[in-house]
Amino acid sequence: MKKHIVLLPGDGIGKEVIHSAKDVLHAIAEEYNHSFNFETHEIGGAAIDQYGTPLPETTVDACKQADAVLLGAVGGPKWDNNPSHLRPERGLLGIRKALDLYANLRPIKGFKNLLHASPLKEEVVAGSDLLIVRELTGGLYFGTPSERRDNGNFVVDTLAYSRQEIERIVDKGFQAAQGRHGRLTSVDKANVLESSKLWREVVEEKKAQYPDVFVEHVLVDAAAMKLITNPTQFDVIVTENLFGDILSDEASVLTGSLGMLPSASLNENGVGLYEPVHGSAPDIAGKGVANPVAMILSTALMLRYSFQLENEAKVIEDAVQSVLDAGFHTGDLQVADGRLVGTAEMTNLIVNYIRSQNASKCIASCYF
Ligand code: IPM
Ligand code: MN
Repeated sequence: MKKHIVLLPGDGIGKEVIHSAKDVLHAIAEEYNHSFNFETHEIGGAAIDQYGTPLPETTVDACKQADAVLLGAVGGPKWDNNPSHLRPERGLLGIRKALDLYANLRPIKGFKNLLHASPLKEEVVAGSDLLIVRELTGGLYFGTPSERRDNGNFVVDTLAYSRQEIERIVDKGFQAAQGRHGRLTSVDKANVLESSKLWREVVEEKKAQYPDVFVEHVLVDAAAMKLITNPTQFDVIVTENLFGDILSDEASVLTGSLGMLPSASLNENGVGLYEPVHGSAPDIAGKGVANPVAMILSTALMLRYSFQLENEAKVIEDAVQSVLDAGFHTGDLQVADGRLVGTAEMTNLIVNYIRSQNASKCIASCYF
């Protein structure tokens, strides 16, 4: 298979972990006879410094031509005081909108031997395995342009959704539940917000199309509580943009670290942008200590969702699992025993596993 991938390293540790993604994809290409070519473009703070805008046209055009996009992270203190149109985050929001990446999938699954790295009790997090389906191109993030009036002392942000925007993400939620354990939790604030009332209506209407899925509605405040008191009750959560943003960071504590969580952002045509859930971590950037696992697992999602390479995706996930099982971990994971490694070493361990895995399969199937 031949694919053209655009890399958007962005800022901070994004620049480091994107190398890990590339190394892993090189190994997969060689071992499984694929050809991936890469083109790198700027986004976020790096693009502001170089081009005076967080999302240059050249970057948007390149992403539109690509088979898939891998993104590191954006942001950093250097740009914190910039006016909002010149903030790195604008680049990320802009590319999501430009590619119409409305469906953000964030799988959260604890790794068995890292359960004790979670601040939650091991018996509470054990067995948690959920998928957050977050609407990504609407809601408060994209309402009519925010305003400041009265010398900046009065502000307006608007939360807008059309029925069609809600329908397409709710469909994704139902479909995801069908492919998993058949349970869908729709999270809203229908006791207060008009947008949530429409959201709930749509979910109720759609129910009939998916009789094999068990649906429940949970208010977002209760969902936040249940996520950490009883996370195993969840299978698929579908929710609007801001609720999904908040709940997915919260859910990351189930896995011990935000450094473990990948995400896929998809449009109607299956073109996707894949990025870690974590940010640019300016405090550890440039030190070679960032956890590359979220980025590497994001490449696995790319192989699965954009290229339908389920086997290769699984190989990457198994590689991560086996390296973690062997006790290797980066500094973000509070693990008592085990071996502390940096970004490059963690990546090499995963790459070596991928290569050895294929070699042993070949011995089994090629010679016997
Ligand atoms: C995320 C991030 C972004 C978001 C920021 C960087 C704009 O937190 O991908 O979750 O809020 O969507
Ligand atoms: Mn977030």
